Amino acid sequence: MLIKRPADIPPSEITDEFVYLNRRELLKAAGIATVGGLVSPSILAAPEMTGKELRDVQKSPFSTDQQPNSWSDITTYNNYYEFGTGKEDPAVNARNFNPRPWAIDVSGECDKPGSYDYEDLVSPHTLEERIYRLRCVEAWSMVIPWVGIPLASIIKQFEPNSQAKYVRFKTLHDSKRMPGQRRRVLDWPYEEGLTIEEAMHPLTLMAVGLYGRELPNQNGAPIRLIVPWKYGFKSIKAIAEISFTRKRPRSSWERAIPSEYGFYANVNPEVSHPRWSQARERPIGAGLFASKKPTLMFNGYADQVASLYTGLDLRKNF
Ligand code: MTE
Repeated sequence: MLIKRPADIPPSEITDEFVYLNRRELLKAAGIATVGGLVSPSILAAPEMTGKELRDVQKSPFSTDQQPNSWSDITTYNNYYEFGTGKEDPAVNARNFNPRPWAIDVSGECDKPGSYDYEDLVSPHTLEERIYRLRCVEAWSMVIPWVGIPLASIIKQFEPNSQAKYVRFKTLHDSKRMPGQRRRVLDWPYEEGLTIEEAMHPLTLMAVGLYGRELPNQNGAPIRLIVPWKYGFKSIKAIAEISFTRKRPRSSWERAIPSEYGFYANVNPEVSHPRWSQARERPIGAGLFASKKPTLMFNGYADQVASLYTGLDLRKNF
């Protein structure tokens, strides 16, 4: 995300996106990786795949047929402010985060509230691999082979009632384990919301893995949301709370800068972000000289999801 710079972030920590991307691609072309702006001899090679291999993962017909990005692209270029505001920070700062044991508190308009252990929540389900595009509001994109469970299957376990119009998600709130929460970059914990229809849509995924392995910490271990037709910031990481609400929740970004980040956050090339166009995107990993490509409405998932927004003015409801 690009936000107005709070006073507590020194300018040295903020790298212009274009400069950053070019530096990264140039170094990549030369076979060199960087951490925090310095060439680090210890990681000249691409990072090795980590995490336990997940068993019995089924391929999903919902996948795109695009070539996924490399493990290295997906795990070293992240947005995760709980572990730093730079793209390379989470890979370094989340290294010692331990996502086990993990519980998810479920509350609100449902018949089965309670504290659910991660393993108990996930184990009754079949894991699916779904290759989805991720389009970030900053105008870059990646294609990622997530492993997960449709959110609808998880939600049904909690038996939401007829008053459940929205689903609110919160990330773990623990500044000892998530050091970025000691800085007031956002109003912690990170919070996101979906309408119940969006949450129950078959494309909406709770990801627990990547490339057939357990989710790396920097990508939101142990469990994070993926809503492929929305900008990446909707896809909240390390979920510790789920609540069914009557009223529309206000996400962290909406609260921080309401004029720039709305509740819906649908990928929409026709609605510019107040400070830049959303019409084109730069696929990460395509090389320094690859041109930007046009962004597709709903990130290419319009046929499946446009009907969720019938009658809604998508310019006002951005
Ligand atoms: N979730 C939490 N808890 N904190 C964050 O800062 N960043 C969001 C989203 N989920 C974020 C988060 C943004 S802006 C993006 S683009 C995606 O995570 C990035 O996911 P990735 O790092 O796996 O590519």
